[in-house]
Amino acid sequence: MGGLEREPTRARGAGPGFKVAVLGAAGGIGQPLSLLMKMHPLVSTLHLYDVFNTPGVVADLSHTNTSAVVRGFLGNDQLGPALDGMDLVIIPAGVPRKPGMTRDDLFNINAGIVRTLIEGVAKHCPRAFINIISNPVNSTVPIAAEVLKMAGVYDPKRLFGVTTLDVVRANTFVAEVIGVDPKAVDVPVVGGHAGITILPILSQVKPQFSFTDKEVAYLTNRIQNGGTEVVEAKAGAGSATLSMAYAAAKFGESCLRALQGEAGIVECAYVDSEVTELPFFATKVRIGRAGIEEIFPLGPLNHYEREGMEKLKSELHDSIQKGVKFVQNPP
Ligand code: NAI
Repeated sequence: MGGLEREPTRARGAGPGFKVAVLGAAGGIGQPLSLLMKMHPLVSTLHLYDVFNTPGVVADLSHTNTSAVVRGFLGNDQLGPALDGMDLVIIPAGVPRKPGMTRDDLFNINAGIVRTLIEGVAKHCPRAFINIISNPVNSTVPIAAEVLKMAGVYDPKRLFGVTTLDVVRANTFVAEVIGVDPKAVDVPVVGGHAGITILPILSQVKPQFSFTDKEVAYLTNRIQNGGTEVVEAKAGAGSATLSMAYAAAKFGESCLRALQGEAGIVECAYVDSEVTELPFFATKVRIGRAGIEEIFPLGPLNHYEREGMEKLKSELHDSIQKGVKFVQNPP
């Protein structure tokens, strides 16, 4: 067998593409996300990194007849080669929630994982777009920013906390209420990515729709607690993986299309922002070749949404500070 194995080459005739790394690739999110990225025509090279089972995932995925070349990397010693030359790094590494846990309960484990992985990014591909999925996103993104600052390579335009699942859920649940195709719905979701920090701006929904107070309360609550709905249904077997992989692939695709020079790529993301007094905030952003080109303002909010904004600020502030402190004064 050994003599027949070859270093994989890119399929002949395939178009140009980007180099993408998935860190945490053997996990519940990592595996379906890696499949979706392997299927993507804009991906030429896919590096899968994990501390567990990457050879198995790579062997499996490498048999799919799409043109992206897939390579596996296992354990900290191989983090450098996994990251060398990457254009986009997507990070779903870490532990997920179990019933009764908040995203913040994951902090102690995931904060350290994200710090180590971002140290690798700072060293091996500091110009890459970084998509952070590992929770609590409200704190892991500030952690990543601090690590990149310490390494002298922080570019706030290239660091994204992935909140796409909140938007995907909002569009789905709103479509159910107003009775249209979810693909036709666009709900901006702002703030952060945990409980009340997730604020859907239903007054700005497209297509325009006038919700009753009861519908607003139902939708806001369901969007804010969509993650918990899945955690409870999985009853100890983890949190959202398939819908998250879908959302991460959607956001990753937007990053790749922006890197390719496509104009008008707009997504909600949790980023370094001056939209509020908080240093990080999720709003719609326009992404281009060099990263974030424009951060859109919140736009007009109704009374209910203004109240939601006031409520979320202190929790989001504390989560940001917790992340910053973790790097500046390590425990
Ligand atoms: P999982 O436990 O199924 O997979 C996590 C993977 O990370 C495992 O394969 C594990 O071996 C790997 N890992 C652990 N330490 C690592 C390290 N130091 N370096 C590289 N890989 C490492 O968990 P799942 O369900 O895939 O969730 C992953 C993360 O995504 C969790 O933090 C979860 O809370 C978060 N998440 C975020 C969402 C969002 O909307 N941003 C939605 C759902 C989950």
